[in-house]
Amino acid sequence: MSRVALVTGGSRGIGAATVLRLAQMGYDVAFTYRVEEEKARALAKKVEELGRRAWPIQLNLEELWRIKGVVDEVEKLGSLVVLVNNAGYVQRIAPEDLSLADWEKMIRVSLTAPFLFIQAAVPHMKKASFGRIVNVSSLRALTGSAHGVHYAAAKAGLLGLTKSYALALAPFGITVNAVCPGFVNTDINKEQLEKHGAEILRQIPLGRVADPAEVAALIAFLCSEEAGYITGATFSINGGLRMD
Ligand SMILES: NC(=O)c1ccc[n+]([C@@H]2O[C@H](COP(=O)([O-])OP(=O)(O)OC[C@H]3O[C@@H](n4cnc5c(N)ncnc54)[C@H](OP(=O)(O)O)[C@@H]3O)[C@@H](O)[C@H]2O)c1
Repeated sequence: MSRVALVTGGSRGIGAATVLRLAQMGYDVAFTYRVEEEKARALAKKVEELGRRAWPIQLNLEELWRIKGVVDEVEKLGSLVVLVNNAGYVQRIAPEDLSLADWEKMIRVSLTAPFLFIQAAVPHMKKASFGRIVNVSSLRALTGSAHGVHYAAAKAGLLGLTKSYALALAPFGITVNAVCPGFVNTDINKEQLEKHGAEILRQIPLGRVADPAEVAALIAFLCSEEAGYITGATFSINGGLRMD
């Protein structure tokens, strides 16, 4: 039976790079996107050119009630053994302007949805006695964010989720880890890099932002068989911007 990976937010940026990397590792890859259907189709074609199957799935992560059904459908492709909770967005807003609706949407998409994806994927991974889960958090989970209180809170919550599931799933051969990217060259921070690029680069010891493929390489390693002794860990990938 083929081994299947599921990546949320696979249409662009870090997610798209991860989809390709996992396909290169031999996984058939299902991935979700919210609106960028054309990009999702183009990526699926690239996966197929690598000789793997691809399954783009339209899913707005605010639609929490759809998640279990999506995961169970993905399992029909083969054995679901890899889950990468990657989809996310930022909203730059001062704390005093943050509404309850803004807060709830961020927590829903960036924390509740990953929880539900894990909950739905785990029975399939237990069946396979093997699983790799990677949650894409952020540097902001570690530093906080004055202009994204809800983003930093959700991403910090993901770290607690990661460690808790790592404990719960260790007896089943399922590892759970988190990655915390700094600045990566994707649409999510395009505006900020355009406005404050020079200042941001000055603060990064390596003097540049990351390529999405560099983050994907870390995620893919954590999804490999070789990474079997790593669980509950948080990996910074930030060019030295913050050293823990
Ligand atoms: N780039 C960075 O510097 C950076 C730094 C730290 C952490 N991260 C984290 O890395 C992850 C990926 O970010 P990225 O930089 O690759 O961003 P990106 O290029 O903007 O891609 C975001 C992805 O998430 C999907 N998405 C966004 N909102 C969604 C929603 N409500 N429901 C379902 N899907 C949704 C998008 O789908 P569509 O394409 O259909 O819109 C897209 O596939 C995020 O969790 C982000 O917080 C990024």
